Amino acid sequence: MQEILYLNGSFFPSEEAKISVMDRGFLFGDGVYELIPVYKSKPFLLDQHLDRLEISLNLIGITKEQINFSEINDAINELISVNQYKEHSIYIQITRGVDKARQHIFDKNNKPTVLIMGQPYKKYCVSEIEKGFTACIQDDYRWTKANIKSTSLLANVMLKNLATKMNRYEAILIRDNKLTEGSASNVFILSKDIIKTPKLSYKLLSGVTRNLLIDLLRKNTIEVSECDISKEEVLSAQEIWCSSSTNPVVPIVTIDDISIGSGKVGKFTLDAYKIMNDYINQY
Ligand SMILES: Cc1ncc(COP(=O)(O)O)c(C=O)c1O
Repeated sequence: MQEILYLNGSFFPSEEAKISVMDRGFLFGDGVYELIPVYKSKPFLLDQHLDRLEISLNLIGITKEQINFSEINDAINELISVNQYKEHSIYIQITRGVDKARQHIFDKNNKPTVLIMGQPYKKYCVSEIEKGFTACIQDDYRWTKANIKSTSLLANVMLKNLATKMNRYEAILIRDNKLTEGSASNVFILSKDIIKTPKLSYKLLSGVTRNLLIDLLRKNTIEVSECDISKEEVLSAQEIWCSSSTNPVVPIVTIDDISIGSGKVGKFTLDAYKIMNDYINQY
């Protein structure tokens, strides 16, 4: 059975859905997106993802009035139901729509293109988590509006592919000698027995998983500091993990062949993994 997706108010089998070559998303990467995980056929933290979508739209000048959020909500539920998604990802991609010419200046009356589609994701099993993953350190050469969840992901794509070519799970990014995030994840470290993650700024995405993890850890009386973290502190950390919606806690045990802590997945990381999994299972 072909997957059904939603495009601009209608539902189509995926191969029949078409977008104009004049769409600004294609021409300029002029758009924003969200990924919402689905667990047991239920979208996880939908409100938080839609709130962040609204923030991204606002930051690129697409107004709330141009987007029908209740239709997006209904479309997500419809796609889960018709495609029988149980454990899945849902992408919402919104671009600044179709233009008459390829021109940088946009017409603010353009009708945004709204695409919602599902995609299976690879969830790591417990034995993979317990074994841990590797990473490399790279310069964060992305633009300095990384707080916008933009579809212009060229730098992230290049960095993730570089990491993959080096057989690493993730590229951990450093700007001005400070940790920002991963190419497709936020980063937590354990240093001097305190869990730390970079404080929010325009240099990194306000990860929905990051924010939930901080809340859950603090509720479990585990201290978390949101602060500047130097490259040296990353490399000498006792533990490191990456967080994202598809894999909420991914332990990193080596960076560029340097062992992190004992080189084995640490206690705090496994606690975070368990706390998050319990929350997802009860959701
Ligand atoms: C650059 C970047 N940072 C952080 C994240 C994690 O965000 P979230 O937890 O909302 O999935 C992602 C997720 O795709 C990302 O691409």
